[in-house]
Amino acid sequence: MKVLVIGAGGREHVLAFKLKQSPLINEIHVIPGNGAMKNIATVHTDIDEANHEKIVDFAKTQNVSWVIIGPEQPLTEGLTDKLQTENIKVFGPNEAAAQIEGSKLFAKQLMEKYDIPTAAYKETNNKTDALAYIDTCEFPIVLKKDGLAAGKGVIIANNIDEAREGIDILYSEENGTVVFEQFLEGEEFSLMTFVNQDYAVPFDCIAQDHKRAFDNDEGPNTGGMGAYCPVPHIDKGMIERTNKEIAQPIAQAMAKEGYSFFGVLYIGAIITKDGPKVIEFNARFGDPEAQVLLTRMESDLMQHILDLEAKQPIQFKWKKDAVVGVMLASKGYPGTYNKGEVVSGFTLDGRYFVSGLNKVDQHYVTSGGRVILALGEGSDISEAKANAYEAVDQIQSNALFYRSDISDKAIKQK
Ligand code: AMP
Ligand code: GLY
Repeated sequence: MKVLVIGAGGREHVLAFKLKQSPLINEIHVIPGNGAMKNIATVHTDIDEANHEKIVDFAKTQNVSWVIIGPEQPLTEGLTDKLQTENIKVFGPNEAAAQIEGSKLFAKQLMEKYDIPTAAYKETNNKTDALAYIDTCEFPIVLKKDGLAAGKGVIIANNIDEAREGIDILYSEENGTVVFEQFLEGEEFSLMTFVNQDYAVPFDCIAQDHKRAFDNDEGPNTGGMGAYCPVPHIDKGMIERTNKEIAQPIAQAMAKEGYSFFGVLYIGAIITKDGPKVIEFNARFGDPEAQVLLTRMESDLMQHILDLEAKQPIQFKWKKDAVVGVMLASKGYPGTYNKGEVVSGFTLDGRYFVSGLNKVDQHYVTSGGRVILALGEGSDISEAKANAYEAVDQIQSNALFYRSDISDKAIKQK
């Protein structure tokens, strides 16, 4: 089988790496990919991820069996629909179903209609209404821009002044939708769920991301600064409850409303005193959750996709070992940062997955905010963490920073 992966980051790097191990696949292409994937796939950096016409043309002329879409942008812009029109199979939802990630309001309205547990919310459509609304609020409150924001469009306001500041930021123009949410307290986790319309199969291994830029969950929100799996202090009962109260009902709800979701639904959940609630849905694998989960996955990802297509049981198999991944990011991220800084010292054997590096001549230089994820495996989280930081120490660059407490939530609970 010939497979095409869309995307250029660490998630797509691990997708290509994992798919390469499948006996079902003999050829992997990545559009646009990055230089670090060249030993596992044919990389087409000359084709733009946003050039849907070229991607469809490539898939057709190359007789690609499956296209696997990594990032949210092509999903919400309808790449799946265009490929399906040409009878090409796609893992990743169409434009209508991808709204579950692309529009916070769409997701909230669906959850409200089908009684799926999530924070109470209120939307405003202009700045004047938003400013009037916060006069009536209790704090803290969460402000979210409606639309894709790479994990960076969320503001937690502890008082009315911070809420006003937040409104100023999110309403750079007078009109637009902002969703205000009740602030939920609790521990978060990420549950990837395979979904084919009303058929939903959650992974029986969850991961935990670290969204804030700095140690102790301080600093601004990012796309994710590190992840680990499994999460030993969140038990099977909680995963089962999340499946029953969130995963199954949302798949049923989407199917009932006529949204045809095929792909992976990312459930960002928070454990409140009333049980698990939805913080966000994504229409794709998490990044860096995918890097740790697919490293731990022993079973065949491509086989799982085929079983999902046929609505057959999916039999996951996981390594016994735990996996911890630490993100190295450009100093300044998620704000402004330099590009073109040299990074060296890493290997391309599954211990590192590259998010933002370009190969220029014989060396790699930074091309993005999140740069490279260093992984460690071990018989428990502490050992995996020690191995991950050993991998971090191998990397030579003075343009990067990282958190030093990835996976500590699991270690402290022991
Ligand atoms: P999101 O992009 O919606 O996942 O939000 C990013 C992060 O903001 C989440 O991972 C949470 O840490 C935090 N957050 C979002 N919504 C809420 C909420 N309603 N209550 C508490 N924290 C939240
Ligand atoms: N790591 C969070 C996300 O992929 O959205």
